[in-house]
Amino acid sequence: MSSKFPDHFLWGGAVAANQVEGAYQTDGKGLSTSDLQPQGIFGAITPRVDGDSGIKDVAIDFYHRYPQDIALFAEMGFKCLRTSIAWTRIFPQGDEDVPNEAGLAFYDQLFDEMAKYGIQPLITLSHYEMPYGLVKNYGGWGNRKTIEFFERYARTVFERYKHKVKHWLTFNEINMSLHAPFTGVGLKDDSSKSEIYQAIHHQLVASAKAVKACHDIVPGGKIGNMLLGGILYPLSCKPEDVLETQRQNRDWLFFGDVQARGGYPAYMQRFFRENNIQVEITAEDRQTLRETVDFISFSYYMSGCVTTDEQQNNTARANILNMVPNPHLASSEWGWQIDPVGLRYLLNVLYDRYQKPLFIVENGLGAKDRIEADGSINDDYRINYLNDHLVQVAEAIDDGVEVMGYTSWGPIDLVSASKAEMSKRYGFIYVDRDDTGKGSLERRRKKSFYWYRDVIQSNGNSLKDKA
Ligand code: BG6
Repeated sequence: MSSKFPDHFLWGGAVAANQVEGAYQTDGKGLSTSDLQPQGIFGAITPRVDGDSGIKDVAIDFYHRYPQDIALFAEMGFKCLRTSIAWTRIFPQGDEDVPNEAGLAFYDQLFDEMAKYGIQPLITLSHYEMPYGLVKNYGGWGNRKTIEFFERYARTVFERYKHKVKHWLTFNEINMSLHAPFTGVGLKDDSSKSEIYQAIHHQLVASAKAVKACHDIVPGGKIGNMLLGGILYPLSCKPEDVLETQRQNRDWLFFGDVQARGGYPAYMQRFFRENNIQVEITAEDRQTLRETVDFISFSYYMSGCVTTDEQQNNTARANILNMVPNPHLASSEWGWQIDPVGLRYLLNVLYDRYQKPLFIVENGLGAKDRIEADGSINDDYRINYLNDHLVQVAEAIDDGVEVMGYTSWGPIDLVSASKAEMSKRYGFIYVDRDDTGKGSLERRRKKSFYWYRDVIQSNGNSLKDKA
């Protein structure tokens, strides 16, 4: 197809510190909430005892192997790499006055390595982890004081890397706190709605403070929010289903509304009142929230449906958000429904709503891979998935949507977030490690590696209208 992608489109991939780095106690790093979830977001919260081990403790050992991995990303022609800074490498307990120099030095080296190849970093300040010290001693985001600790951390890394990192994100999938409070805001999963929304409010204020700090400190810096783009369709055109779909979409769009429009949307007043939710929002908070993000970023893996019909509501649900399945779509091996057109729809919805540039910072297919006798890995299923989604991105660009870039999720195999599996692979690069932690950690190029290299090289021209 002829390319619709603009020059300077940021092609690349996205990873997160806790899913790739390992080295979970190296160079002074403190324990994070992710370290207490060795079975992933939906596993139990486990107090760490000496001698315990979890797959993320080593992950894919990116902490030590990043020069080799970045060279492979460069071979594919990456313009951009999204990763996160582990807050606990910089402030191990979260409340220190002075940052940990060894942690800061690690990211200096990482960004320098990327610069060698002209790969721009896109850095998430908090990707599904926070210092466990802040949870244990302060109650996580439930405590207003956490805003200060986060601001100190954000200002520290902006100062340190202001000449190396120009694109930043605040909180990964900030709307996930509604479904995974421990991961998102460091609260117990059985916390009340008022407690969860209060913690979310503190995080939204902290996000706005980080936006302000980035604007103050990083010359030419741009900072975005990050939403889990779980777009929902009505299962039928029954007006009640359509209305309920709008209501449920607002559950997650609410976060974007605050971060991009600078205040609480009107519909939240009724939501809070009818659900008996009390949130303390000060006049100063309202002022702080007026500092809005420069762009909207989001992840997109699947869409889902909504129905008010009790019977249909009970149909088997398999994906991370427990959505009602769409009868028109096929599913991945993990039950995530595949909907490339949904990405075009979502891009248009977000652009209509916010009129700000959009950045697709996660998209991809988690699948089991097989190594053939000759050593090759023929992951045509992944190529087809990505091709079809990128064709829809091109369509959205043609619709007039401003898209800054696309970083596919897990360009190198990594530990999955929901269940800490290695067998759920997203990568163009295979990593030899299994779910029990066995394997040499050797890296190997898959068929999709060469396919993505061609896509980037041709700026999207090599995509096929029908994969
Ligand atoms: C997003 C997260 O929810 O989806 C990533 O930001 C995560 O951290 C990705 O890895 C895919 O989910 P999973 O469970 O397949 O790793």
